[in-house]
Parts: sequence; C-alpha cells; structure tokens
Amino acid sequence: MTATKIVIVTDTHLIEPDGILHGLDPRARLDACIRDINTHHGDAALCLFAGDLTDDGSDAAYENFHAAIGALDLPWRLLIGNHDHRERFRQSFPETPVDDNGFVQSMAETPAGAFILLDTVNPGAHHGAFCEARAAWLDAALERCTGRKVCLIMHHPPFEIGIPSLDRIRILEPDLLRGVIENHTNIRHMFMGHVHRPVSGSWLGIPYTMLPATNHQVVLDLENEDPIYFSHNHPGYGIVLMDDERVVVHTQDPMEEAAADNRR
Ligand SMILES: [Fe+2]
Repeated sequence: MTATKIVIVTDTHLIEPDGILHGLDPRARLDACIRDINTHHGDAALCLFAGDLTDDGSDAAYENFHAAIGALDLPWRLLIGNHDHRERFRQSFPETPVDDNGFVQSMAETPAGAFILLDTVNPGAHHGAFCEARAAWLDAALERCTGRKVCLIMHHPPFEIGIPSLDRIRILEPDLLRGVIENHTNIRHMFMGHVHRPVSGSWLGIPYTMLPATNHQVVLDLENEDPIYFSHNHPGYGIVLMDDERVVVHTQDPMEEAAADNRR
C-alpha cells in the first residue's frame, strides 16, 4: 500500500535576516531544512509548520519567514506558537484559515485523512491555553470527522513531559482539551512542537510525537524549573508516512550533509 507522506517542521524561530539567535542563524537553518525537504521529500502531500515561526513576532521576522518559505516546493500550512504574535501573523499571512473567533485553527485534508490544526497561544505568556471557544470548535471538527481517523497538531503539549522548565509553559489548564479528546475516538496521532526535542509516547491512549526545532534545541534537564537550557544539538524535522494501517514518523537532521550526499 502506498503511504501518504507529510512533512512537519517546527520552532523555526526566525528573526530579522542575517540575525543570530542563541549562536545560530535561524534563517540559514530554515533554508537548509527547506533544501533538504525539496531534495528528498518533494513527493510529500503537505508540509505543516507547528508554531514559533518567529522568535519575536515582529513584522521583520514574518517577512523573513515569508521569503524563506517561498522556496518550499510543497503545499504548506502554518500554526502559531508562544513566540508568535497572532495579529501580526495574520496580517503577514492573510490567506491562513482561522476559525469564527479568529483563532488560527483549521482542518487540512490529505490523501491519508484530515489534520486538525489547533491554536494553543495565550497572548503575552509563554504557557499555552485552550479555552471554551477553541474547545467547542475542536469538538465540532471532530464530530464532522466521525467515522474517519484524524491527526491533531498543536504547538504546546497539554501534559507534563518530565522537563520542569518546559512543563511550566505547557497548556496549564488542559481539562477542556482533555474533555473534547475523551469525547471522541477518531484521533489516531498527535503532533506537537514547543519542546525543541524528539519526544514520543501516548496521552489518554493516543500516540504523540514532539519534534526537534530547526534552530536551537533544549537540553534534557529533568531537575530544574529555571532556566531552559538551550543547546546546539542536532536540528530535525519530521517525515510522516501514513496509510490506513500505519503512522510512521521519521526524524531527519537537515544538516546531515554526508548522509544527504549518499542519497543522491
Ligand atoms: Fe520554540
């Protein structure tokens, strides 16, 4: 059975062109990622960006992101994260679908089923939120998908992952989201950004994948609440292969030049 390929990129953290963030050039990192995707995964049905598109939510950063993504050969859809600014994002990407309340939430259809894109941003804060309006929208979206499996993708995790510095900026009040999820049986997989690390497991019986960022990573510190320790560890993005039976998630380092050469 031929699988549908979906690419997931997260936490690109762009700033102004040529700017350096945590010792790295986020635009150069995103450009390398897009080159790798175009070279090896141009057959993917869709590329999803799971938030923190920019580091500072500035117009200059969104312009920089806009310029970078112009090189991507795939159809793409964008989510926002805690480092984004919802209004400036919507001005920069007015074609992005939003729900009736202006949250950056929508569905993306693929040959392997629908992805539901959620907005977990809590303006002015780094921790995430999921309010009654967003929960009602998700409940209706899942209801419309009754009888077929869907994937959820959001920026913030709604549960603790055992890294205290990240757990304090998760969705702090996840009960509304939990209630909607527990009200449906058709969610096959969840994807998240925010943690700048590869993490996998299950929540409420649903498998999930969290992916590395393209710029700076987060150190595995299971002890301290503060600060968040960043590193120059390997960047990564996700390649998802899906059919009726399988969800397979590969993580690829776009800077892995030697291996990339071998594949050509
Ligand atoms: Fe981030």
